Amino acid sequence: MNIQVFQSKEALYDAVAKVYIDRLNQNPNLTLGLATGTTPIPLYKKLIKAYQEKLISFKGVKTFNLDEYIGLDESHPETYFNFMRRELFNHVDIDLNQTHIPNGRIDFNEAMKDYQLLLQENPIDIQLLGIGSNGHIGFNEPNTPFDSKTHIIELALKTRIDNSRLFNSLDEVPTHAITMGISEILEAKEIIVIATGKNKSDAVYEMIKGPVTESLPASILQRHKNVMVFLDTDAAHKL
Ligand code: GLP
Repeated sequence: MNIQVFQSKEALYDAVAKVYIDRLNQNPNLTLGLATGTTPIPLYKKLIKAYQEKLISFKGVKTFNLDEYIGLDESHPETYFNFMRRELFNHVDIDLNQTHIPNGRIDFNEAMKDYQLLLQENPIDIQLLGIGSNGHIGFNEPNTPFDSKTHIIELALKTRIDNSRLFNSLDEVPTHAITMGISEILEAKEIIVIATGKNKSDAVYEMIKGPVTESLPASILQRHKNVMVFLDTDAAHKL
């Protein structure tokens, strides 16, 4: 793992944005694995800015998101479908037909099979990851098998509590989600993990220095050969 710690979030997100700008200039037809949550938002802002400054284009880019809630109304602002349009897709020149998010509103078996097939056919060049405070990646909660493919998962109470800040109440946070599986995440040629804030420091420590165990899903990243981890000093303070 290549681990970089930054004194400021500004410097951290500049560094991550630079990686994307460089990679997109080398290959404008990248297949990107994208993430949601609060963590990637400043990166998406920087990529929108880079697009406006004509440093990059998303015209040839394909995207695959990690996960989606199950049971939210189509119009709910916290569906990851709406999140991605609001935070990135609506502001750049991406072809929306080339953006993919697991579907949380159709028959589960169909949704899982569809996404598994799509991922098989479209190898991801760079997978972006945040990390849950319990070590989840995507919505792969603790004790998800490392060999999992896209599946339906019951969200951990900790995850629902963490994410309740974005909803009116804990009751409104979905209990289930559809997520890319861990084995599919590991297929990406390159993985970029971002973590900021003290509430991530335990999970970050376990991801980097702990044993590789299904009880801390992000620990499997120790076995991937091309992972870059971008941390602020708060998230890194236990290392
Ligand atoms: C969310 C997402 C994850 C994300 C994590 C951390 O629920 N499913 O992909 O990495 O939990 O979220 P945040 O960045 O808001 O802390």
